[in-house]
Amino acid sequence: MLIRPHVLLCGLLLGSLAEVDAWADDKQAAAPDFQRDVLPIFEAKCLSCHGAKRRGGKLDMRTLESMLTGGDTGPAIKPGNAQKSLLIELIHFKEMPPKKEKSVVTSAEIELLRRWINAMPPAATSTSTARP
Ligand code: HEC
Repeated sequence: MLIRPHVLLCGLLLGSLAEVDAWADDKQAAAPDFQRDVLPIFEAKCLSCHGAKRRGGKLDMRTLESMLTGGDTGPAIKPGNAQKSLLIELIHFKEMPPKKEKSVVTSAEIELLRRWINAMPPAATSTSTARP
């Protein structure tokens, strides 16, 4: 029996198109906006120590770029991978904000932050993700 190469090729092509589609859908449906959704959480709970006046761990959380650069431990965010992002890890293990602070990040907020990071293109660099 003969295998027809073009049938195989079509299948491969359709398969990869479907994957790209799913990724794009996920991105559009879920992606929270940094200025609108994310920054207010940081402003309320993080920027007193990671902003203009203080930089705990040398981390500045006022812009996406400065979080991609990160602080003492390296990048705070790994685009496309919330699970491997230091920022999420520290919130998850309740290390940030520090316990002496009264504020905590709610599970709805951490979920939003996860979605925000996961929606970033994985190969993003500080220049390609920078928005005015
Ligand atoms: C009361 C001050 C304070 C607040 C509020 C705070 N942090 Fe921190 N953060 C620190 C300090 C100080 C460090 C340095 C490490 C340490 O000493 O624990 C740090 C370190 C970090 C680091 C690691 C930086 C590195 O590269 O080593 C991350 C990520 C971080 N904080 C995220 C957050 C997030 C997210 C919030 C808000 C939800 C937050 N922090 C709120 C004081 C604070």
